[in-house]
Amino acid sequence: MNTLRSIKGTHDILPEQSRRWQSLEQNIHNFMERYGYAEIRTPAFERTELFARGVGSETDIVSKEMYSFRDMSDTSVTLKPELTAPVIRSYLQHNLGRITPLTKLYYIDHAFRQERPQKGRYRQFHQYGVEALGSPHPEIDLEIIAIAYFSLLELGLENLTIKLNSIGSSECRTAFREALKDFLRPHLNDLSETSRRRFDTNPMRILDTKVPHEAEIVKSAPIIAEYLTSADRAHYEELKSGLKSLSIPFEEDSNLVRGLDYYTRTTFEIISPALGAQSSVCGGGRYDGLIETLGGKPTPGIGFATGIERVLLAQDAAGIIANPQNTKIYLISLDDPGRAANLVLISQLRNAGIKSDMDYLRRSMKAQFREANRLGAEFVIINGNTEIKAGTVQIKDLNTGEQSAIAPADLISHLLK
Ligand code: HAM
Repeated sequence: MNTLRSIKGTHDILPEQSRRWQSLEQNIHNFMERYGYAEIRTPAFERTELFARGVGSETDIVSKEMYSFRDMSDTSVTLKPELTAPVIRSYLQHNLGRITPLTKLYYIDHAFRQERPQKGRYRQFHQYGVEALGSPHPEIDLEIIAIAYFSLLELGLENLTIKLNSIGSSECRTAFREALKDFLRPHLNDLSETSRRRFDTNPMRILDTKVPHEAEIVKSAPIIAEYLTSADRAHYEELKSGLKSLSIPFEEDSNLVRGLDYYTRTTFEIISPALGAQSSVCGGGRYDGLIETLGGKPTPGIGFATGIERVLLAQDAAGIIANPQNTKIYLISLDDPGRAANLVLISQLRNAGIKSDMDYLRRSMKAQFREANRLGAEFVIINGNTEIKAGTVQIKDLNTGEQSAIAPADLISHLLK
């Protein structure tokens, strides 16, 4: 019989990699704690309707990429393709806004999208992200972009580019959309099928086309900046001057629209040159209408999500490796009484907080020494009948080669010195 394999686009995180994941996750937990964000965890699946309403039924994510199925009660449910809509659902369900007028949340979680897998693009992937709910002011946009950028610097990423745009509030977008359609109409026959469909459903998405001849056409398209209301413009200007005062570099990109429908005003992406085709490591923006769309009272919000697999790929390219945490002690058993004594001793060492290991395969002394070296042990303890009779164990420092006898009762205080 064939052995079964994981589904295309999904990955096991094997023991040799899980240490890197743990270290990255710990880094993010500490980072968010410093910025005053609290962790939120939402279920792996939600009602399909949440994403259709929240992310937008015409987006690629909702129209093509979701893992949806009917459960036993015939409800259509979906493995979450992103985290913002579930976080807002939870915020509304538990009325988190009643506790503080500004709710600051973060998550480290998986998401599922049925995309064509390639390097940096998977069907189950992971994100860390934040959502700040309740403030319409540009200072929170600044904080969100600062978190996105500084957290990546702390994870060792280099040469990052922040692309920034303001797509304005919904009022100015109606006029812009019409102007854009007027501009695109004469080119309709030259557009791809996807873009022709988007012409009716979401013409702004055509602006970030990856098709070269379309990119050429949209170069002379009207730009959203010319349609911003004065309030939108003031918001954007204040954000940009805030970024400058924090020395956060950014490039304005008037075609940065993003593939999710909920954005208003600020949109941004962070690009890493280490990633090749899937170069966007982080994406986010403001979504002042989303909470209302999902049934809450009008509440502004802004957030971002960073792809963890992409961070790891960029770390690989920069040669960053997680520090291994070596075993401190390896206990070598010379015979049956030595093994019985070591089983007690290892329990005491571990309970005292000392990372220890021993042989469970009844191997030769030579093989046990080899194992101690493989684990990078600092010391070995050698225990057998002779040692038990003498009331001591042998302790050998593997760095210096020095060996001496010590009473088991003194071992822990000796090691913790
Ligand atoms: P997004 O741009 O769809 O935004 O995803 C954010 C990041 O997740 C991407 O920049 C990328 O690093 C990673 N990512 C997305 N799809 C995949 C994939 N198939 N494989 C690997 N990594 C992937 C959102 O998800 C929004 N919810 C972000 C947000 C939060 N906006 C406001 N708040």
